Amino acid sequence: MASIPLVVQLLLLLLPLPLREHLWSSHRPNDVGAVGELHPIFVLPGVACSDLEARLTEAYRPSVARCGVMKGKGWFALWENSSELSTHHYNECFEEQMSLVYDPVANDYHNLPGVETRVPYLGIVKGYHQKQPSDKPWCLTELIEALEEMGYRDGDNMLGAPYDFRYAAPVPGQASQVYSRYYRELMELVETASKKHNKKVIILGHNLGGMVALEFVRNTSLAWRERYIKHLFLVTSMLSPGFVNLVKNLASGPEGSRILYVPNATDLSLRLMWRSFETSILPSPRVFGHKTIVITKQRNYSTYDVEDLLATIGFSAGIKPFRRRMVARMNYFEAPKVPLTCINEVGKRTPRQLVY
Ligand SMILES: *[C@@H]1O[C@H](CO)[C@@H](O)[C@H](O)[C@H]1NC(C)=O
Ligand SMILES: *[C@@H]1O[C@H](CO)[C@@H](O)[C@H](O)[C@H]1NC(C)=O
Ligand SMILES: *[C@@H]1O[C@H](CO)[C@@H](O)[C@H](O)[C@H]1NC(C)=O
Ligand SMILES: *[C@@H]1O[C@H](CO)[C@@H](O)[C@H](O)[C@H]1NC(C)=O
Repeated sequence: MASIPLVVQLLLLLLPLPLREHLWSSHRPNDVGAVGELHPIFVLPGVACSDLEARLTEAYRPSVARCGVMKGKGWFALWENSSELSTHHYNECFEEQMSLVYDPVANDYHNLPGVETRVPYLGIVKGYHQKQPSDKPWCLTELIEALEEMGYRDGDNMLGAPYDFRYAAPVPGQASQVYSRYYRELMELVETASKKHNKKVIILGHNLGGMVALEFVRNTSLAWRERYIKHLFLVTSMLSPGFVNLVKNLASGPEGSRILYVPNATDLSLRLMWRSFETSILPSPRVFGHKTIVITKQRNYSTYDVEDLLATIGFSAGIKPFRRRMVARMNYFEAPKVPLTCINEVGKRTPRQLVY
């Protein structure tokens, strides 16, 4: 069975374990072909699997003095081990230092003045981990282990492309300081890996990582894609909790336990920080049309009323970036023009309507 094409082998890896073993029991990884035949693979997991480091400069004006303790002390892990946030009474400072600011002049997002951030572990997958201490590993850990069994090696032919989930990947024509740099670095990594192994690369993105992977590919020239991309896998990149949930995150705060685990924080207490992040996408009129997505005593809202809804939930500041950045992303349907496999969940119940 050594002749199973690599892409099919990768698809098998994405199946639940019992099904995979059933389909693939007769040939263990060591007979799937020589390691030299593997196409390098780039793995991008979902939201909050990448870490974030920060550095506070003199320009930082903390809202409370103790949030300035790290000023001038160099890089530190801001978003890596959330258990430590409460140990160090850093929750409030974390929320402030994670927050973004929308700049209407540049029509782009950036950190608070004096807060610099960077994403560590570019190029390797070992840095990925979920921040919920009690959860079983869900940052594609099992897939990464299965790839290792196939002969993939971290940082060699299996590469990580951790990203800053607070920003949304831009579509053509949109400025994005953070993603301009990220795309450039990722292109270089792809080129290096491809040349080193003399093969095109596979890119696999899960959840929000799928959106990032898709925009990355669509940001490159057609000639570049043809030269370097073997296949693009988008795994539940249409966000498995559903799109209406994204409205809920803005209205009531992110579901702390899943997306953004901060000990002792309630969804509501994280709302201000969450709203400062660039929201990738909300339910689109193209899909939801005039259907009511939010019911309140005073009024019902469809996807055509999102601006009014943002004002009603006390987030008028979100209207401009919604209009100037998000709508363009929601209406950008250009195919990535590379061999593509999308894997979506079926039979999963997702909310269609929020009742307040
Ligand atoms: C996170 O920090 C806690 C408390 O300091 C520690 O017990 C735990 O081992 C750390 N977890 C990781 C993955 O480093
Ligand atoms: C790629 O993304 C950058 C950053 O948003 C943008 O400036 C550039 O125009 C994009 N290029 C293409 C071809 O989409
Ligand atoms: C905060 O959360 C931690 C871990 O979840 C818990 O042990 C601690 O008791 C909590 N502290 C407060 C003040 O609620
Ligand atoms: C909102 O929609 C619900 C369910 O369709 C309906 O019962 C209710 O009367 C509507 N409320 C308003 C204010 O239109």
